[in-house]
Amino acid sequence: MPKLRKDTATLELFPLSDTLPAPKPTLLICINKRMDTTRPSCGYRGSIELADAIEKGVAERELGLEIERIHCLGHCQKGPTMRLAPGGKFYLGKGVDDADAVLDDLAGRLNGKKSF
Ligand code: FES
Repeated sequence: MPKLRKDTATLELFPLSDTLPAPKPTLLICINKRMDTTRPSCGYRGSIELADAIEKGVAERELGLEIERIHCLGHCQKGPTMRLAPGGKFYLGKGVDDADAVLDDLAGRLNGKKSF
C-alpha cells in the first residue's frame, strides 16, 4: 500500500482564507407546502407572497442580499419562517404586511447597525 504524503507546499501556496470567498448574506425563506395538510407549513401561511415581497424590496433597496426559497427550516408551528444566513436571526410568523419592517431590519443588520 502506498504511503500518503503530506503536501504542505500546497497548503502554503493556497491558504483557505485566500481561496474561499466569504459566504454572501442570504435570507432563507421557507415556502414549503406539505402534502399532509393536517400539519402546518409555511407555504399555506402566505410565505410565497412574503417571499415575492421580500425579493422585490431587496432589489429596490439594493441590499446585496441573496434570497433562497427553501423547504422547511424546522419552525413549522411558528411560520412563515425566514432566517438570515449564515447563522443569523430567525424571522417567525411574518406576513406580506410585515415585509417593509423586515427589510428595514435586514438593512440594519447588513449595515452593521444591528448584530447579524
Ligand atoms: S414548513 Fe416552514 S419551517 Fe417547516
